[in-house]
Order: sequence, then structure tokens, then C-alpha cells
Amino acid sequence: MPNHTGTAPGIPVLVLNGPNLNLLGLREPAVYGKDTLADVEELCRSAARTHGLRADCRQSNHEGGLIDAVHEARTAHRGIVINPAGYSHTSVALRDALAAVELPVVEVHLSNIHRREAFRHHSYVSAVADTVICGAGAHGYAVALDHLAQLVKETR
Ligand code: DQA
Repeated sequence: MPNHTGTAPGIPVLVLNGPNLNLLGLREPAVYGKDTLADVEELCRSAARTHGLRADCRQSNHEGGLIDAVHEARTAHRGIVINPAGYSHTSVALRDALAAVELPVVEVHLSNIHRREAFRHHSYVSAVADTVICGAGAHGYAVALDHLAQLVKETR
């Protein structure tokens, strides 16, 4: 329910989805599931609410857009859940942005990246994430929010 400022109440956290995740539900459903991005974002908002958090959900297909969102989170949010998608395996810049903002970070992958092609086995983001969840499908985001709530309370 919105408060008097029009913003939903709760401790703000960022849920950031990377490239091609706007096509969730249509894109390789055997790998990524049938839930759409809107479904996943609603799941995140609902999981966040149960812990007194407010999930602000963003998605970008652009490396710079993801980096800008991470920089904005430095002052606007208390923690980050991120599925960096293909940039997990390529982006030193996104990794550096996450390291720079010094917020709790939970990295999520819908698929089990370790059971897939060798180029997906390494994520630059994992070294700066507090927690990595992969292979749990859309439910992984709910697990990520549960755990981020714990991390946010520890850093209060
Ligand atoms: C992904 C796994 C990545 O390897 C892939 O590039 C994605 C999605 C996942 O959620 O399983 O786009 O991050």
C-alpha cells in the first residue's frame, strides 16, 4: 500500500535484471522457465514485503544502464539483488560498480550456470557478491530477498 508520499513503505532494496531478461517467459522456457519478468518482479515485491523491505525492480539490456542503476543504489537503496545475465561472464565494469557501492549483494541466476556451457561457469560478479543463488528458477529470487533481508538487518 502506498504511503502519503506515494511510495510503498519498507527498507528500499534494488532488484536489478540484466540483458535479455525482459524476454523471460518467451526466451528458452526450458532453461529459464515460463514466468515473465513481470511475474518475477511481483514475486520479488511480495517476498520483500514479508521482511519489511521494498523491492524497486529495474531491468536493462545495456551494461552502462546496469552500472548507473548500481551507482544510484549507493544512496537510494540498502542492498541489491542482481541477475547480471550475460554480463556475469564478461563485465569487469559491472563487478567494479558493485564493489564500489559497498552494499550487500545477492547474485541470482535462474539456471544452474555450473551445469551449462563452460563459458557460463565463471561470473565476475560472484567475487563481490555476499551470496550466490543459482538453479532455483524464479524461486531463487524469493530466496535472494529472504537472505538480503538478513544481510540488511546485520548491516543496520
Ligand atoms: C542467467 C545465466 C546466464 O548465463 C545467461 O546469460 C542469462 C541468464 C540465468 O539467470 O540463468 O541471460 O543469468
